[in-house]
Amino acid sequence: MAETPREQGHETLSNLLQETRRFPPPADLAAAANVKPGDLEAAADDRLAFWEEQARRLHWDRPWDSVLNWNPPFAEWFGGGRLNAAVNCVDRHVDAGRGDRVAFHWEGEPGDTRTITYAQLKDMVCQASNALLELGVAKGDRVAVYMPMIPETVVAMLACARIGAVHMVVFGGFSVEALGTRLDDSEAKVVITADGGYRRGKASGLKAAVDDAVRDRPAVEHVLVVRRTGQDVEWTEGRDVWWHDIVDRQSTDHSAEAHDAEHPLYIMYTSGTTAKPKGILHTTGGYLTQVSYTHWAVFDLKADTDVFWTAADIGWVTGHSYIVYGPLSNGATSVMYEGTPDTPHQGRFWEIVEKYKVTIAYMAPTAIRTFMKWGADIPARFDLSSLRVLGSVGEPINPEAYMWYRTNIGGDRTPVVDTWWQTETGAIMVSPLPGVSSGKPGAAMRPLPGVVVDVIDDEARSVPNGGGGYIVIREPWPAMLRGIWGDPERYKKTYWSRFEGLYFPGDGAKRDEDGDIWLLGRVDDVMLISGHNISTTEVESALVSHPKVAEAAVVGATDPVTGQAIVSFVILRGEAGEGGDGLVQELRTHVGESLGPIAKPRQILVVPELPKTRSGKIMRRLLRDVAENRTMGDVSTLTDSSVMDVIAAKLPDAK
Ligand code: WT7
Repeated sequence: MAETPREQGHETLSNLLQETRRFPPPADLAAAANVKPGDLEAAADDRLAFWEEQARRLHWDRPWDSVLNWNPPFAEWFGGGRLNAAVNCVDRHVDAGRGDRVAFHWEGEPGDTRTITYAQLKDMVCQASNALLELGVAKGDRVAVYMPMIPETVVAMLACARIGAVHMVVFGGFSVEALGTRLDDSEAKVVITADGGYRRGKASGLKAAVDDAVRDRPAVEHVLVVRRTGQDVEWTEGRDVWWHDIVDRQSTDHSAEAHDAEHPLYIMYTSGTTAKPKGILHTTGGYLTQVSYTHWAVFDLKADTDVFWTAADIGWVTGHSYIVYGPLSNGATSVMYEGTPDTPHQGRFWEIVEKYKVTIAYMAPTAIRTFMKWGADIPARFDLSSLRVLGSVGEPINPEAYMWYRTNIGGDRTPVVDTWWQTETGAIMVSPLPGVSSGKPGAAMRPLPGVVVDVIDDEARSVPNGGGGYIVIREPWPAMLRGIWGDPERYKKTYWSRFEGLYFPGDGAKRDEDGDIWLLGRVDDVMLISGHNISTTEVESALVSHPKVAEAAVVGATDPVTGQAIVSFVILRGEAGEGGDGLVQELRTHVGESLGPIAKPRQILVVPELPKTRSGKIMRRLLRDVAENRTMGDVSTLTDSSVMDVIAAKLPDAK
């Protein structure tokens, strides 16, 4: 049987990258773990019964008639059931006598703090619900939320959920134009914002951006403005309303209506780098069931004692699912931090862990690699002994970044859970379970109970252990997207057309000899070198495994001999010095030894920064432009576009 180049390539590399380190669960954690090895079988035996059992974690005003109605690719979960997401996140805990429990320890970037209990949160959500009703927001209307990381952001989302309005959060770092296209596509009626927020020690303006965005958009009837920084803002009478004027005078009573399980909860636009952003639609019952279960299972959450911290922005799905809906539906105590990790100093995150005795922390590999670059002596100054589980999300975590995280943050004691999922999946899909899995640095391990994931080849055949190809999802799951807002055809085409009957997330993956899953990055980023498919992730991880490298980005550039050749960009660790030809040779040899000669980069450039999207993903597309001497494409979604000029200057013949 003829092998396609893709299969050959994956097999070659997966045989070469050897990772033998294993971290079994700590005995005490395993003994008291929420999920134990035996629980996995029950879920596998009857998936739908398993999800019904998880749905019972929530309060339903009316039980469902059917668990799943599957009309591919359109799913209805818990049809006939009715519930209110805000009641599940707030009222339920107050009614059960836990109103005094802290929902959020909030930490502003300048050092101001607020402690918000569940009882206070309930009052705030009820008042905000009444205010939205007064502004004419009705069930089904879309409400844009363009906010800094402050408690009112959570309150705004829950108030929408409570009255059945659909929230559409736009990351506060996005431009006027990005906000505008999202307002148009969702036809939002109200925008909730703040005068500004604090970032890197400065007050950024948000209201001013909203003013620009809504100027020619009469569909937006009101702009509701929280005062955060106190900066001057322009005011349009009749349209603009201060939060403290309208919300504070409302009653704290609001009796919530139960909504259908499939009532839209929110739209979240994916940060597509080239195409028009996709409005990913999530609904109520299935979404809340899966975020609630995964938050409890993957982080081994003990709501009475844990202090949970997702260090991400609410403007991303990570914030929606694991700052808002997961932790609150479980009645957990969370930390919420407004600012950046280096303000006012590079130990800020660890200071927060020490101060609030955080037990579970969840963050992105890009942050972890930044901390590696800054040096292990910084976290070493803080007491991090409260931590018991660490999580990673957003990109494949390089084995060395995993090791650094586990060792320097987790005190060589905490399991690290590498959680694979997407905006579209709504909740974690593939992850180790801290009381069950023997962690492997770099592997996302196994699909969670109730989730059916496979790795397949070009012909949709399941690959054997040791093989590689694409990750796909075989069966519908409760938190799955219900579509792309206003565009069912695009939904089918994007996710359900590559392989008949299977959901295609767009990521490459391999299954190792033990049957565990490793994510290999977006398939668009896979390189074809002399007929072999090589994943950027594996070469990047090999580079990061060198003690002098903190971060690496790899792209395939056209090459007359090999078709494509590997060009790498590396950031050195603080202690590594300047680099030079000697180091470049050393790194090439190192990659050759780790992965085989075919994976040796043609070029390695030492750079001070890498181009990243605002959610921290490396933009390889731009690096490919540089590596191929092309004029650079659209840089508008970059955090800092001057980075590309610096990088281009490093390449002798780049335009
Ligand atoms: C894409 C989804 C998941 C919420 C934040 C990002 C990549 C995400 C992992 C991981 C390898 C990962 C994938 C995925 N990704 N987590 N643990 N290992 N890759 O949500 O912006 O929708 O991005 O992020 O490529 O498809 P998103």
